[in-house]
Amino acid sequence: MNGVRFNHLLGLEGMSREAITEILDSAEAFLEVLERPIPKVPSLRGVTIANLFFEPSTRTRISFELAEKRLSADVTNFSSSNSSLVKGETMLDTARNIEAMKVDVVVIRHFAQGAPHFLADRISASIINAGDGAHEHPTQALLDMLTLKHQIGALDGLKVLILGDIAHSRVARSNIWGLRTLGASVKVCGPLALMPREVEEMGVEITHDLNEALAWCDVVNVLRLQLERQQEGLIPSLRDYQRSFGLTRKRLEMAGGDKVIMHPGPMNRGVEIDSDVADGSGSVILRQVTYGVAVRMAVLYLISGGERIIE
Ligand code: CP
Repeated sequence: MNGVRFNHLLGLEGMSREAITEILDSAEAFLEVLERPIPKVPSLRGVTIANLFFEPSTRTRISFELAEKRLSADVTNFSSSNSSLVKGETMLDTARNIEAMKVDVVVIRHFAQGAPHFLADRISASIINAGDGAHEHPTQALLDMLTLKHQIGALDGLKVLILGDIAHSRVARSNIWGLRTLGASVKVCGPLALMPREVEEMGVEITHDLNEALAWCDVVNVLRLQLERQQEGLIPSLRDYQRSFGLTRKRLEMAGGDKVIMHPGPMNRGVEIDSDVADGSGSVILRQVTYGVAVRMAVLYLISGGERIIE
């Protein structure tokens, strides 16, 4: 099962098709485990995992913790607000202390781009990036790809639209790297002020015309509008954003054809996506969350060596 060896999962940039496929294939086996009456296997018995969250999270934090417990790992959780960081301890000292307690795997979410890479260079534990600044969120993109595999089949030739605040989105970056590696076509759509120049160099097309983009795509992955961007003056108003880039039932009907609707969460209903779209028949938003546990089980399993069988 484990043809590819992983020491860390820092991002999908540069990850091979073979490695991504191995994670997705392993996640299929764990989806089956999650359907059992007792959804638990002994694969990571004796492995100690620390979840370090320096930024708020609902889905990723709970999903990793569930995945670890379903694999029978020993788990400890750390959040910056109730730690010695508030007394001035550095992140590196925090990590070294965690390592001194013989932790094998560190799952880290941090507001600073590159924080997981910083740790990977300095401590011996395996590091999994659970989201670093606007850089990457690899397990989110992997669960998005697993959802699409189940919903549609092969990703080769699939047309995926990523809609919204591309500039500040780690979800967009990881999805672009992963989807392009698996052969999908990716287009991004959003306001000029929220569109990074370098995105074209990642092999995607940019548009600011949502109706044209919707007519083109099979899948729409809607990104959260980070509301603080309004205070920065990057968008004129939420109303204006909703009018130009909000995903509504009317726009989808105008585009014609069935589209798969995705959102990484948390959603601003009535801003980037209307409730009748988020909760409508094309939506796979909650299925993404379900698949997230299996994907994280697969990543943890492969990073920990993967030689222990799934019984
Ligand atoms: N998708 C995602 O990363 O959600 P959380 O911020 O709740 O973890």
